Amino acid sequence: MDSYEFDYVVIGSGIAGLMSALHLSRLGRVAVVTKREAFESNTNYAQGGIACVMTDDDSIERHVTDTLDAGAGLCDESVVRQILAEGPATIQELIQTGIRFSERSEDEGGGYDLGREGGHTKRRVLHAGDLTGREIQVSLLRASSTNSNITLIEDCMVIDLITTSWLGLDDENRCVGAYVLMRTTGKIATIRAPVIVLASGGGGKTYLYTSNPDVATADGVAMAWRAGCPIRNMEFIQFHPTCLFHPKAKSFLISEAIRGEGAQLVNAAGEPFMQHYDPRGSLAPRDITARAIDNEMKSTGQACVYLDIRHKSPAYLRDRFPNISRTCKRFGIDIAHDLIPVVPAAHYFCGGVMAGVDGQTVIPGFYAIGEVACTGLHGANRLASNSLLESAVCARLMARTVAERGASLRMVKHISLPAWQSHGAVPSDEEIVVEHNWNEVRQCMWDYVGIVRTNRRLERAARRIRNLREEIREYYHDYLVTGDVLELRNIAAVAELLVRSATARHESRGLHFTLDYPETGPVAEDTIIADGAGEKV
Ligand code: SIN
Repeated sequence: MDSYEFDYVVIGSGIAGLMSALHLSRLGRVAVVTKREAFESNTNYAQGGIACVMTDDDSIERHVTDTLDAGAGLCDESVVRQILAEGPATIQELIQTGIRFSERSEDEGGGYDLGREGGHTKRRVLHAGDLTGREIQVSLLRASSTNSNITLIEDCMVIDLITTSWLGLDDENRCVGAYVLMRTTGKIATIRAPVIVLASGGGGKTYLYTSNPDVATADGVAMAWRAGCPIRNMEFIQFHPTCLFHPKAKSFLISEAIRGEGAQLVNAAGEPFMQHYDPRGSLAPRDITARAIDNEMKSTGQACVYLDIRHKSPAYLRDRFPNISRTCKRFGIDIAHDLIPVVPAAHYFCGGVMAGVDGQTVIPGFYAIGEVACTGLHGANRLASNSLLESAVCARLMARTVAERGASLRMVKHISLPAWQSHGAVPSDEEIVVEHNWNEVRQCMWDYVGIVRTNRRLERAARRIRNLREEIREYYHDYLVTGDVLELRNIAAVAELLVRSATARHESRGLHFTLDYPETGPVAEDTIIADGAGEKV
């Protein structure tokens, strides 16, 4: 069996992974393993931007207040303060890697062109047109691929982490490596490292409709849970209010920045409706906006609502929203003259692997950064564009902690990593089972664990997911592993965590809304599930 050794292994190639790798490369040899091409990440599809205090009429205190308001009582205030205060220095670091944010012309007063999004009381969103994620991804990949201490390994999917407790060793539990599937050859290898950084992003694919790309299958949360990490607040799934509603537009987001520039949400009759739900109208936070749209669609029987940005000139729209203008045009929608049909879709996991601001999890040597982690920044509802900032800040703090603690391959060199056991598994002749179960998990989550929940729907979901996981477990044991089976196993495991977390919360708060407990309880408490150790599937 092939085996590799590095000083640091980073799982994932979005902003959290690449910023982690760039920082760690100053300390030693880093491998970035990523399950498809390095370009494919949630970061690459981010449109809106990265929130940070950039002007004198704004303040960290104000950004903190907006974040806490959106988070509905569940943010960890000290974490919020720390991450947001690190923002300006972190933005400078991003700019130094070559990222170029949009600027205003001299006529407009110069400086960065700051956007506004739901829940922000000030303009503070740095962006690169409406292709911010792509600009970040391209720049960080360029910096990583020219760095001699970073090795990018594509088509390499982590199956599971290897910890000393999983190996049955008596030492203090620590992460020492991982089993990985090399997708192009089907071979399974081991990677050994004293530090593993999980930066694998979220899991929008757990739901039938999502703004996320195909890679977002919640692999990180599932593998960390199986390794014994506590998983926190998984019930808080952010549904982005406005994904393009068109049969051929798979997952295309209409950035909230468009509402920041004055677009109104209107119904089929062209009437604005958000004022009926919140005084902030179309710029209310996402939990309120997504629920309002859901209610409008259900009460009017319409399949979608619309965004109206027709008050802006065609030239302005082409310049500020080039990607949205172009993509809508491809589907026959001229955003300067037509209403844009939109629906909510699963967008962001506010919960995840419980971790400190430096990514430290309960397992020494194992860090979680970015969407896969739950640091306490987002609470029960993430403020738009806070997440790219969190990824970049936490990557920096993680590398600082790793440098302070020191870590070398010698620490794990003596531990023997057993070869992967396939226990007589054979190539599958029943791929259809994977396809079928994949669709069923996602449909079930959409129907029963969506924007509005009830006890009954959650019970239904729990029963179905339990049965599906049983079937997947058998399949996993009988057949040789493939990337598709691993992704199915992960979305099903996380679907179960999500249902269990939602069932445990007997109140409505932020993104978790249930008709059975519509009020917000007096005390905000985290939901923590920590029983995954020993789970093999
Ligand atoms: C958007 O552009 O609306 C998405 C930004 C985000 O989710 O933070």
